[in-house]
Amino acid sequence: MTILVTGGAGFIGANFVYLELDKHPEDRIVCLDKLTYAGNLETLKEALDKPNFRFVKGDICDRDAVFALFEEEKPDIVVNFAAESHVDRSIEDPGIFLKTNILGTQVLMDASREYKVKRYHQVSTDEVYGDLPLDRPDLFFTEETPLKTSSPYSSSKAGADLLVNAYHRTFDLPTTISRCSNNYGPYQFPEKLIPLMIANALDEKPLPVYGQGLNVRDWLYVEDHCKAIDLIIRKGEVGQVYNIGGHNEMKNIDIVKIICQELDKPESLITYVTDRKGHDMRYAIDPAKIHRDLGWLPETMFADGIKMTIKWYLDHKDWWQRIVSGDYMKYYEEMYGERLRQA
Ligand code: NAD
Ligand code: DAU
Repeated sequence: MTILVTGGAGFIGANFVYLELDKHPEDRIVCLDKLTYAGNLETLKEALDKPNFRFVKGDICDRDAVFALFEEEKPDIVVNFAAESHVDRSIEDPGIFLKTNILGTQVLMDASREYKVKRYHQVSTDEVYGDLPLDRPDLFFTEETPLKTSSPYSSSKAGADLLVNAYHRTFDLPTTISRCSNNYGPYQFPEKLIPLMIANALDEKPLPVYGQGLNVRDWLYVEDHCKAIDLIIRKGEVGQVYNIGGHNEMKNIDIVKIICQELDKPESLITYVTDRKGHDMRYAIDPAKIHRDLGWLPETMFADGIKMTIKWYLDHKDWWQRIVSGDYMKYYEEMYGERLRQA
């Protein structure tokens, strides 16, 4: 079987590529990635040696290139990870989010129709459900929760989800959608909360916590997310949406304190800065459906996963130090410079 993985040079896509190569060596994996600031070929270097892996640099919005690749590879399954993924960047510049996340999805589904793929899987997010109040710990997102987005990022992901459902109903495209909570683990770009705090703490730089740090996210180790997608594309029911999460809700401030403790750095590095605009308060996934229908359960406890993640960043300083020393510095100054000076 040939699986086309888009966005496989990014954080979750790369972890998925490695899982598939390891678990299903009989399958061929073709990765299509534009190598934006978030994509890194270095991340795939161990995959590049494998005879059943091919990397293609390209944009999912480029219709001709996408159709040419489908003509050549005739993929059986398409798993679409490719996206602009950072909420803060979507607040600064929404346009590229709408283009890649919605129009790119359309191009991939048009090609999937034309070449009659057996499954088109859309990697979506719990952010499409909006947020939950802090004082209602009894509430969770189910697959029936209405879409109600807050940021240009989450709106673009919700737009893509609606389009996926439309292609299923109107054109009978065999689709599935997964909506996962916050991931952490190896190869996450250091703009996101956990790797950013690890990198800054190691350099004894301020740790910029938005607002009061009371926002809650539901953290899942990236490998558990990838295993869930692997199950969905092989055993999931066409037309279905599956929520993925491990009931691991934590306040941002508690995450940052754990990182300080694990790295033996002082909590005085924590700096409260101006809040993110439209900041979602709480995410919490009800994963009952994927457990009941596909038998999926998370395997890595947060206490272990965060230790493994910190160790990975300590062991792979060259991977992230190259990133934080380049264009990222400009981004960091734009995003945090003024906020930190005001704090
Ligand atoms: P990421 O930003 O680390 O990686 C995105 C990848 O997509 C990069 O390799 C980038 O080069 C590639 N890409 C971007 N635009 C492209 C284009 N036009 N054509 C081809 N490739 C392109 O993102 P991530 O955190 O790995 O997220 C992957 C997917 O999972 C996204 O769809 C995201 O919405 C979803 N998701 C992420 C999380 C999370 O916690 N990170 C949780 C749930 C869902
Ligand atoms: O829930 C799934 C989503 O999780 C994915 O769809 C997104 O692609 C992914 O980026 C992530 O979105 P978040 O906005 O939740 O992740 P982020 O790491 O940017 O922020 C996590 C929380 O930490 C959030 O409440 C904002 C806060 N934060 C973040 C950064 C980068 C800070 O307090 N300081 C920071 O510097």
